[in-house]
Amino acid sequence: MKIAIGNDHSAVDLREEITKHLRERGFEVEEVGTFSRESSNYPEWGEKVCRKVLAKEADLGIAICGTGVGISIACNKVKGIRAVCCSEPYSARLSRQHNNANVLCFGARVVGAELAKMIVDEWLDAEFQGGRHQTRIDMITEIENKG
Ligand code: RB5
Repeated sequence: MKIAIGNDHSAVDLREEITKHLRERGFEVEEVGTFSRESSNYPEWGEKVCRKVLAKEADLGIAICGTGVGISIACNKVKGIRAVCCSEPYSARLSRQHNNANVLCFGARVVGAELAKMIVDEWLDAEFQGGRHQTRIDMITEIENKG
């Protein structure tokens, strides 16, 4: 499985830690930037992650900013993306099982590296359960298509 990962300036160190962790777990990882600690704009990096997922150049995406909030809002503006901002593992797991989230976001100023790894692991190890949850996702897609 291939993961695209991106971040703004606030999350360079955390992205490096998460990338290392994912590679140790056997995932293929593509880092889309930023690699700089100079101030930059999180929507740019969130969109890059989402485009990789939509183009099927990655199976799933991870996007990190200071809080995870801004980048998740940006990601959710990309049609076909269901991004979730998680600060704990339970919601991360359910966001795959029930919401089929295809992008995981969190905040480098909110979670430490070890908690972030737990969040990522729960998210990646969970599977979408389909059934009534697919019906609800179809409703979300209908809302998206109304514009
Ligand atoms: C950057 O200072 C900060 O605003 C950004 O990383 C993020 O927290 C936005 O939601």
